[in-house]
Amino acid sequence: MDFVSFMEARHSVRQYDSNRTVAFEKIERAIRAAQQSPSSCNRQTCRVYAFTEKPSIARVLAHHDGNRGFGELLGGVFVVTVDLSHWNTVGERNQGWVDGGMFAMTLALGLHAEGLGACMLNWSAAREQDIKMRTCVGIPDNEIIITLIGFGHMRDEFRVPVSARKPIDMVLTHEPSLR
Ligand SMILES: Cc1cc2nc3c(=O)[nH]c(=O)nc-3n(C[C@H](O)[C@H](O)[C@H](O)COP(=O)(O)O)c2cc1C
Repeated sequence: MDFVSFMEARHSVRQYDSNRTVAFEKIERAIRAAQQSPSSCNRQTCRVYAFTEKPSIARVLAHHDGNRGFGELLGGVFVVTVDLSHWNTVGERNQGWVDGGMFAMTLALGLHAEGLGACMLNWSAAREQDIKMRTCVGIPDNEIIITLIGFGHMRDEFRVPVSARKPIDMVLTHEPSLR
């Protein structure tokens, strides 16, 4: 499969076969793929807290808004964080979001390559919610939560939203006149 076809075959999956457990080897391979993401100065600041047991998935998702209707079907959930202690200048203050976002995307693609479905789960959390999740998972103060990723085995047949993409000329400006 060429790369564009691989990307076009990925969709956020919200219908899972909840009876199938996700093998740890698949998780490890997806994480190894994500580790190949570029990172600023090769600092490799991303961390992943992985849950595949139904009770622990439920406890983690209890602190998340945005998984209604499919959270209970997931075969696993990742909490992706970045260790901020690797940066110390003001100019680098947003680097964690960039490195963390790139890592999370590659991780989602790694799951896709393993034949698993996945769905990013926003961490647009207020302070109290963030503290509850940190306490639940045991995330130290020097790490920020980038996103959660839900994943699991896909059903033989399932539906995904169309999620049409914008025309390429709304995204790409080729050779704009320079001032
Ligand atoms: C940062 C981020 C957070 C997201 N959070 C959620 C979420 O909480 N719940 C959900 O069902 N989908 C979530 N999504 C999935 C988006 O809705 C989805 O990626 C988008 O509609 C495009 O669809 P596609 O992934 O199938 O191409 C999130 C995606 C991103 C990138």
